[in-house]
Amino acid sequence: MDNVIIGKIRCQSSEKGNLYFLEFIKDLTFDVKRLYFINSVNAGNARGFHAHKSLEQVLICVSGRIQINLDNGFMQKVIILDSSNNYLFIGPMIWRTMKWLVDDSVLVVLASENYDESDYIRDYDKFLRTVANEKNSI
Ligand code: TYD
Repeated sequence: MDNVIIGKIRCQSSEKGNLYFLEFIKDLTFDVKRLYFINSVNAGNARGFHAHKSLEQVLICVSGRIQINLDNGFMQKVIILDSSNNYLFIGPMIWRTMKWLVDDSVLVVLASENYDESDYIRDYDKFLRTVANEKNSI
């Protein structure tokens, strides 16, 4: 699926614990303008249910296990993020839901732009119409 990349977070493990790192430019292609994280979600609950017109994001589950459902309007993909060592890049025009599989999993998100409600598409039918129109205009 275009606009979706699963990457490895490098890790330094020792008897003192695990240290994970991602380097910008080397690992990621956008400049980070914003970081947010979500915690205190009970297993079974889901968030998201939107797409972004232009925002690029990297999602990292730093603790626990979270299921990410992705949809570009034509196909769907399910990705499990866990606290081992993967990250998920999501580019523009991907409808996403994030479902907590384990209580208190923590999702950290790095974003290419500051918060802007006008960049969101929160209506699934509008999302489908928008991606269909974009495809027709190519
Ligand atoms: P939203 O992105 O809709 O979160 P989710 O899809 O996980 O439910 O954000 C929920 C609310 O939080 C949104 O209405 C506004 C606020 N918010 C900010 O003010 N700044 C931010 O960076 C984010 C991500 C959300």
